[in-house]
Amino acid sequence: MDGIGWGILATGKIAHSFARDLAVVPGGRLAAVGSRRLESAESFAATYDAGAAHGSYEELVADPAVDVVYVASPHAFHLAHARLALEAGKHVLCEKPLTLNAAEAEEMVRLARKHDRFLMEAMWTACHPVVRRLASDLAAGRFGRPQHLHAELGFRVDAPPGDRMLDPDLGAGALLDMGIYPLTLAHLLLGQAESLRALAHLSEDGIDLAVAVTGRYPAGVLATMAASMTSWSSRAGAIATDLGRIELDDFHHPTRARFTPYAEGGSNDLDARQEPVEIVGDEPVLGHGYGNEIAEVHRCLRAGLTESPLVPHAQTLTLMRQMDELRGQIGVRYPADAGR
Ligand SMILES: NC(=O)c1ccc[n+]([C@@H]2O[C@H](COP(=O)([O-])OP(=O)(O)OC[C@H]3O[C@@H](n4cnc5c(N)ncnc54)[C@H](OP(=O)(O)O)[C@@H]3O)[C@@H](O)[C@H]2O)c1
Repeated sequence: MDGIGWGILATGKIAHSFARDLAVVPGGRLAAVGSRRLESAESFAATYDAGAAHGSYEELVADPAVDVVYVASPHAFHLAHARLALEAGKHVLCEKPLTLNAAEAEEMVRLARKHDRFLMEAMWTACHPVVRRLASDLAAGRFGRPQHLHAELGFRVDAPPGDRMLDPDLGAGALLDMGIYPLTLAHLLLGQAESLRALAHLSEDGIDLAVAVTGRYPAGVLATMAASMTSWSSRAGAIATDLGRIELDDFHHPTRARFTPYAEGGSNDLDARQEPVEIVGDEPVLGHGYGNEIAEVHRCLRAGLTESPLVPHAQTLTLMRQMDELRGQIGVRYPADAGR
């Protein structure tokens, strides 16, 4: 059968969303799925018409019909599971955060280079057509000079204590789970942060239930970012520039962004506001947006690339180092940090 053969490693929540979007992207097919439990793999395979169901991750990565493995396990296992796939000669798209800390992420990148395989963090925000358009328009100065960015992402997590969202051993915490998105948005739109500061509310287990981050970016641009597992945030994103204001309805799943210019010399805020300009992507959003990251992997594999220009390794590592620094400030440590 033609097309790039995907193997999905793990059958949790995001694996289902991914499989739904994979079905709408041309050029790829769900070759196989692997789970710790064969029944789970079989049920997933039946739902999404996968070519094969495997009762272990080892069998999945050994499947010759699989070209690229999508790692969808909890972050604490990303390095081990990506290692399995890379050592079996497969390319890897690994869920975010790439790993628990920068040292693990550097190790994953090293393994990908050693085996000469493609590796990309599944940072679909960076592949989203609206975000990409906004980043290129801002870089071209179309909306003036950015002065301040605000982005927040949060939803109330009602999960049992052993769930990956609450278990420190599985890498639980608002920063790694959700805060990575506002931090990535700021990085994509403003460049690399010069300084970041965080405050957090920690659980009794020492995980960050909510975190607020302020950042200073090149040219004196400031950012305020928040992530929460205890409240329903607006998910809004906004960039104030010296010529007006850009708003993203939901920066996590944007359907559109709009720029409202402000006229020079308006006597007050309402007088000065002009007609908003819609900012639309150059390509359609595929599925729920995961499709665009899948299309990017297809594009890179066909071009023989080992990393994506949209989610380069250096960018992923920069974000991982930022989160290490912020975790140091708020006092969140994972078992994988031992000895560091
Ligand atoms: N890109 C996004 O928008 C997005 C959204 C949500 C999550 N994520 C990321 O995707 C990853 C998975 O998140 P999720 O919400 O899908 O998690 P989840 O629903 O808890 O599923 C995780 C899956 O990992 C496998 N697994 C292997 N070892 C495990 C262990 N010891 N404990 C629990 N599960 C284990 C299980 O699959 P089997 O039983 O089949 O082996 C499980 O179903 C995380 O890194 C998360 O940050 C990304």
